[in-house]
Amino acid sequence: MKIAVNTGGGDAPGLNAVIRGVVLAANQKSWEVFGIKYGYMGLIDTKQIIRLTPEYVWNITDIGGTILGSAVRGNPFKYTVQGSDGKVSETDISDKVVSNFKALGFDALVAIGGDGSLTIAREFMKKGIPIIGIPKTIDNDISATDVTFGFDTAVNTATEAIDKLHTTAKSHDRVMVVEVMGRYAGWIALHSGISGSADVILIPEIPFDVEKVCQKIKRLELIGQDYAIVVVAEGAIPLGGKLSVIEKKPGGELRLGGIGQKVADEIEEKMGKETRAIVLGHLQRGGAPTTFDRLLCLRFGTAAVRFLEAGMFGTMVASRSTDIYAVSIDEAIGQMKKVSRDSDVVQTARYLGISFGD
Ligand code: F6P
Repeated sequence: MKIAVNTGGGDAPGLNAVIRGVVLAANQKSWEVFGIKYGYMGLIDTKQIIRLTPEYVWNITDIGGTILGSAVRGNPFKYTVQGSDGKVSETDISDKVVSNFKALGFDALVAIGGDGSLTIAREFMKKGIPIIGIPKTIDNDISATDVTFGFDTAVNTATEAIDKLHTTAKSHDRVMVVEVMGRYAGWIALHSGISGSADVILIPEIPFDVEKVCQKIKRLELIGQDYAIVVVAEGAIPLGGKLSVIEKKPGGELRLGGIGQKVADEIEEKMGKETRAIVLGHLQRGGAPTTFDRLLCLRFGTAAVRFLEAGMFGTMVASRSTDIYAVSIDEAIGQMKKVSRDSDVVQTARYLGISFGD
């Protein structure tokens, strides 16, 4: 077999560990592996294809980012080009990707990506490219798998930041509002907020009322805690309000952000209490993957090779309970996994006295 691997969409800690898992497992079978750089772009400009030998990947498990690069705007079905008049238009270059894939003699593609990249992978499957998907995103919002890689590392980074904010918040009797990533799901905020002993956690799944947040802060003052930590998911929505959007990206996706500052401003205005907002942003996507993510990635990468061996094309590697399963890519995409209000973790937070602003 001659297999291709690519990484698409926003990066996540652990991508390199997955690549290593694929390469080493394929090597056991004496298969050849090639890395397609920048998502599918390496199949347009084929100079961007590299042979991935075991030597090439020998010590990349702990390195963040992706050695293959990623192209967030690299959807070959809606490739954006700028005309000489400066106007941007979309064009479909997917046939070129397929013909180059075939001309280069690849037998299958291991596509490592989130919902967007796996949706593109499904379109290529329909055009005849045999694909195995691997779910990646720090947001942990893919429903067909219990967990995506990168999430644990992002939660660790956020928790560490929240831990550090406690001391400065306490020194100045301030409210610190921390905005974390997660897009339309509150997983990062929920897990890091509980683990980092936040007082308030605001997530997209539970619309919040700033008045309730202020009441919680007042209750803390009554018991002698003059500072507070509020963790806000970037997709959190005030009751009757709307998402905080920075911009619409090419391709139509929304870039979220700004809710942390809005919440901080409102708290300060309503309570007259000094409040600061910080945005953790892409820090959550960087750095070395945690041990949990490294292992998950190596399991995902090697499982993809097992699925290829079994001819299970069109499937995505998924972690369920303690094992790895194959689920159909069709089933896996387009179904966002949101935090359930009744889940054990939400109940845990409530019983710890954490407010969701509801
Ligand atoms: O999906 C991962 C993610 O980091 C989201 O949490 C965040 O909303 C988005 O990507 C940021 O995207 P970009 O890298 O384009 O700013």
